Amino acid sequence: MVKTKKIFSLVIFSTFILHSLSISTDTFLYGGCTQEKYTPTYESNLNSLLTSLINSATYTSYNNFTIISSNPNDIVYGVYQCRGDISMPDCSSCIARAVSRTGDICPGVCGGVVQLEGCYVKYDNVKFLGMQDKTIVLKKCGPEVGYDPGTIDAVLGGLAGSGGLFRVGGSGQLKGMAQCVGDLSFVECQDCVTEAIRRLRNDCTSGDYGDMFLGKCYARYSTGGAGGAHAYSKPHGKSDHDGEKTFAIIIGLLAAVAILIIFLAFLRRICEGQGK
Ligand SMILES: *[C@@H]1O[C@H](CO)[C@@H](O)[C@H](O)[C@H]1NC(C)=O
Repeated sequence: MVKTKKIFSLVIFSTFILHSLSISTDTFLYGGCTQEKYTPTYESNLNSLLTSLINSATYTSYNNFTIISSNPNDIVYGVYQCRGDISMPDCSSCIARAVSRTGDICPGVCGGVVQLEGCYVKYDNVKFLGMQDKTIVLKKCGPEVGYDPGTIDAVLGGLAGSGGLFRVGGSGQLKGMAQCVGDLSFVECQDCVTEAIRRLRNDCTSGDYGDMFLGKCYARYSTGGAGGAHAYSKPHGKSDHDGEKTFAIIIGLLAAVAILIIFLAFLRRICEGQGK
C-alpha cells in the first residue's frame, strides 16, 4: 500500500506542475468588428488572407498581407503580431485561435480585430497597415493593493526608455511589458508606447496591475499581488482549449497509473508466490 500512496502523490504533483506550466496564450483580451457586410468575393479573399496569416505564423512572429482585387472594396488588408516572448509553436496556435475567434465574433462583416494574451490579428478592407493608431481599445486597472506607485512608475519609465517592438522590465513579482504591432516604424512604436505609458501613469499606477491597449501597441504591468490573479505569465481564466488539454493529460496520467498499479500488484503476487 505504501507504494500506491507514493504513486498517487506523484500523480497529484505532476498534474500540478503541468497545470502551472500551461501558460495560456489563448486567453481572450478584446475583439471588435466593423459594420459593413462583405460580398462573396470579399469572403473568398478574406479566407485566403486568413489562411496566409495562419501559415505565416508557423515561421515568423509578425507579418502583413494584402489580397488584391479588381474591385477596390474587395481588397483585404491583414496583419498579425505575436507577443515577443512566446515560442513559434505557441505563436502559430495562438494565431489560429485568434483567426477562429474573429470568425465567431465578426460573421459576415469586412473588418475584425482580436487580441489574445499571446497574439493580435486584424483585417479590414480599409487600409490600416503602417498607420499609427493610439486610440484606447482596452484599459484595465487592478484593485489597489498598496504597492508602491513610485516603483511601478520606475518600471514603466524603463519600458518607455528601452527601444524595440517588444519590451520587458521590472524584477521579482513586478513585471512590465510593452508590445507594438510590427507594421509601426521604430519611431511610431516609441510614440505609441510612450502614449500607452503616459495613460497608465495618469490612470492606474497604484493598482495590482494595469493594462493599456491602444490600437497599435500596449503597455502593461503586474505586481503579482492578489495571489497572482492577474499576471500575463499566469493569466486570469483559462480557455476551454486549455481545459480540454489539461483534462486529456490528467486522464492519460490516471490511465498510466492504473496500469502501473495493476502491474505492481501482479508483480507482488508473483514475488509472494515465490516466497512461499
Ligand atoms: C508588409 O510586408 C512586406 C513583405 O511581405 C514588407 O515589405 C512591408 O514592409 C510590410 N509592410 C508593413 C507596413 O509592415
